Amino acid sequence: MGIKVLSTGSYTPSLTITNDDMAKIVDTNDEWIRTRTGISTRRMSCGEPTWYMGAQAAKQAIERAGIDPLDISYIIDSTITGDFFTPSMACMIQREIGAENAAAFDVSAACSGFVFAVDIAHRYLLTDDKAKYILVVANENLSYITNFNDRSSCVLFADGAAAMIIERSDSLFSSWIGSDGNGMQYLYAKVGHVPNPFEENAEEMPDGSDPEAPMGVLVQNGKEVYKFATKALPRAAKAAADRIGLDLNKIDLFVPHQANIRILETAAKNFGIPIDKFYTTIDHTGNTSSASVPIAFNEAVENNAIKRGDIVCIVGFGAGLTLGAAIFEY
Ligand code: ACO
Repeated sequence: MGIKVLSTGSYTPSLTITNDDMAKIVDTNDEWIRTRTGISTRRMSCGEPTWYMGAQAAKQAIERAGIDPLDISYIIDSTITGDFFTPSMACMIQREIGAENAAAFDVSAACSGFVFAVDIAHRYLLTDDKAKYILVVANENLSYITNFNDRSSCVLFADGAAAMIIERSDSLFSSWIGSDGNGMQYLYAKVGHVPNPFEENAEEMPDGSDPEAPMGVLVQNGKEVYKFATKALPRAAKAAADRIGLDLNKIDLFVPHQANIRILETAAKNFGIPIDKFYTTIDHTGNTSSASVPIAFNEAVENNAIKRGDIVCIVGFGAGLTLGAAIFEY
């Protein structure tokens, strides 16, 4: 059993930040950012909450699909930058779109999160014969957790959201997801918590993060992330293809996580797949974590780079460490 993507939608915040804008806050320049990352501009939220961006993307997808929100059985939202610890962003989106019959919950798998959410959605369609439509959303305000004093990471990150409505179909589908918690120290953001009045003698548990690391912002070992990402992309895509014995050359378009153009170029080379088979938006979106795959997917549909009948591979890699790919017919 496969999936049919009925529609997609996206929301990108209206604030455009250029590399010259970034150079006003850290010691950097347009040339360094473009040559090292492929990013020219990125969008940043100027007050739009994460749930709001997700709801806007979902509304566009619902309108394009022409479905009744009451027929949505599940809302699966991927985010690492929600507005609340609780409720989930999926519940906030449910409230906004009036999908009262849906079960709604969030997935946390960083930049691989949308691929994980599609993997989960497919499993629900497989096992719950009452499930009709599934709304999969990814919405990120990475500016919530960006260290704007760290020039090596703050130039990368951006905000945005996108959504996809899927239903069951008979077409081809395969997915594969994986994780490696041993690599947590390469990319993380620590959560602050209230002091517990009873924890006087509590011991700090070693968790792998730097005890001196600033609270609440992304800490990254760029070189290690780079090494991981260039291997993770081909590994995940190949694992998904192998599950159904699919020749990778049969894939019409790869829609990868948009982390950095150099990661994509190196991964494509390692993979033996021409870079023009990779859809890229990094130049104007920056890295929006899990929102990057569906934002790129939506843009590719709008630009006719993905057409009905095409075999598409979405592939993500990110903090956790996590990685995954899903292959399906559009
Ligand atoms: N502007 C100007 N100079 C900078 C900047 C900047 N924004 N950032 C770092 N530099 C300097 C460094 O200080 C260093 O200077 P030095 O040699 O005097 O010490 C020099 O540039 C080279 O620094 P490196 O860290 O070696 O630069 P590198 O070529 O490795 O590029 C980068 C850094 C772009 C972060 C790279 O490691 C990378 O792409 N890593 C992957 C990170 C990534 O994509 N993360 C996204 C999140 S994870 C995900 O989405 C999967």
